[in-house]
Amino acid sequence: MSAKECILIIGANGQIGSELTMALRKAYGSSQVVASDIKTPGKELKNSGPFEMLDVGDRNALHDVVRQYGITQIYHLAAVLSATAEQNPHFAWDINMRGLLNVLEIAVERKLNRVFWPSSIAVFGPGTPTENTPQSTIMDPGTVYGISKLAGERWCEYYHLKHQLDVRSLRYPGLISYRSLPGGGTTDYAVDIYYEALKNQQYTCFLAADTTLPMMYMPDAIQGTLALMQAAAGKISIRSSYNIASMSFSPEELADEIKKHLPEFTIAYKPDYRQEIASTWPRSIDDSQARKDWGWHPEFSIDRMTADMLNHIDKKIRQRSFY
Ligand code: SER
Repeated sequence: MSAKECILIIGANGQIGSELTMALRKAYGSSQVVASDIKTPGKELKNSGPFEMLDVGDRNALHDVVRQYGITQIYHLAAVLSATAEQNPHFAWDINMRGLLNVLEIAVERKLNRVFWPSSIAVFGPGTPTENTPQSTIMDPGTVYGISKLAGERWCEYYHLKHQLDVRSLRYPGLISYRSLPGGGTTDYAVDIYYEALKNQQYTCFLAADTTLPMMYMPDAIQGTLALMQAAAGKISIRSSYNIASMSFSPEELADEIKKHLPEFTIAYKPDYRQEIASTWPRSIDDSQARKDWGWHPEFSIDRMTADMLNHIDKKIRQRSFY
């Protein structure tokens, strides 16, 4: 990627966006990375580079920002996640699809160099093999979020084939991080649990004890996203979205890891509607294509991640109660 690239992040306040923006600013220079969101940013994002209030559903507004800054790459992260989408399916479909189509269309019109858009393990469904789920397999998502991600993958490949757009994508598993909270996902328990363990020594999980799902620590997700986007175009053989994997665990296994640090911690289980969603998702993912094509390799295991999460969240809680 040339030094002249100017990057727009859409959904910069979110769980992925807040960390990806900072990583990109570090890699390419703050003034080259324009953060945008529909909500006012926190101090870190605001003080570290340009920020625009932007609704990706507003095609003209998006067009204006792309033109004004001379944007050459877009990372489009704004979406309604799986659990929230089930509460309001048509709203979620509109947000998830209209935003992506606007980005793809403007990317072609303005001849952008590259686009990143995240897909998810939610593209898989009850007919998909659950263990070591292949890159190409049965995809029959049963959630509106999964349907929108699968449709989005097809649109990305379509724009690549019809318009030669250099669009790249990853099927993220559940993402775990301490900087920004996730919102409205089925895998969010794996973040909430750390806060509750430190604050109350107790957590009631909305998934059953043995619900194994693919998960990933945010530093690996950020590193993987940058590696994918920096790879030479010739290395990218998948234009729908790449499977990527790191670790898989159940709530019970995660609770056992936390207990190694906080022996008093207890967990209870009260599965709700999110259990039905989780039950249709893979337990583990085959990411060999991503490893082979552009060198994907995660670094964090459940034990290293847990030590790091507890350490950082503990500091956050102490700082808040102190001030
Ligand atoms: N973490 C997401 C969710 O639970 C999956 O992509 O909705």
